[in-house]
Amino acid sequence: MKEKLNQTVDYIKGKINEEPQIGLILGSGLGFLADEIEERMEISYKEIPYFPHSTAPGHEGKLVFGRLSGKKVVALKGRFHLYEGWSPEIIKFVVYTLKELGVKKLLITNAAGAINKTYNPGDIILVKDIINLQFRNPLIGPNEEKYGPRFPDMSSILDKKWVEKVKQLFPDLKEGVYLAVLGPSYETPAEIRAFRNFGADLVGMSTVPEIISARHCNIDCLVFSCVTNMAAGILEQPLSHEEVVEVANKVKNDFSNLVLKSLEVL
Ligand code: HPA
Repeated sequence: MKEKLNQTVDYIKGKINEEPQIGLILGSGLGFLADEIEERMEISYKEIPYFPHSTAPGHEGKLVFGRLSGKKVVALKGRFHLYEGWSPEIIKFVVYTLKELGVKKLLITNAAGAINKTYNPGDIILVKDIINLQFRNPLIGPNEEKYGPRFPDMSSILDKKWVEKVKQLFPDLKEGVYLAVLGPSYETPAEIRAFRNFGADLVGMSTVPEIISARHCNIDCLVFSCVTNMAAGILEQPLSHEEVVEVANKVKNDFSNLVLKSLEVL
């Protein structure tokens, strides 16, 4: 992995003229934020040695470097989900690449179903903790001592200072626990009832491998979930991906405002 990562990082460093400080990983329907980056420079995933990329037409991802809210950022346009068949190690590889490029903080967004019945579609929730029900861990395998310890602490996965600043700016922001499943099938009503008993407020199919990898290499995270639907069994209607994308689209402006202001206060 070390050799490959060196080649990946050398290639990218050869193309950029300043180190990004903040990484952005943007979820379903929220990728538009990458288009608001100023003084942008893009590198397609497929031209980067060893960088994962989808071969499906219309799904080519890219790294977008530039400035957002005046901060030096790199956004991953195109995410790697385990349900697509990507291994958790690939996600670790991507996060370590960000680390090597100079990224200190990671802002992650995702679309999620609400388990907590006080939430509504369109709500944006500040994630305060996670539950890993993917039964996968990106750190399985030989430990990369250079990045972090064999048994990393997960008792505080989020950047406390950053979270406090965001809460001061948005005092009404709701907080919740995000539970990750593998997908791609949505959950059953019985699963959602069980997850509620576990203490989860939100359910989704991403984010957890990124957070675990980031914490391992000491990158601080801030995570926002967009509630795109009530989780299975809460309402009398089936879940659909169209609904998820539609709601994510509706909250574009609120989301964008929250992310831009969160970057500003950093
Ligand atoms: N379940 C899992 N993932 C999701 C959901 C959901 O209800 N909504 C958006 N992503």
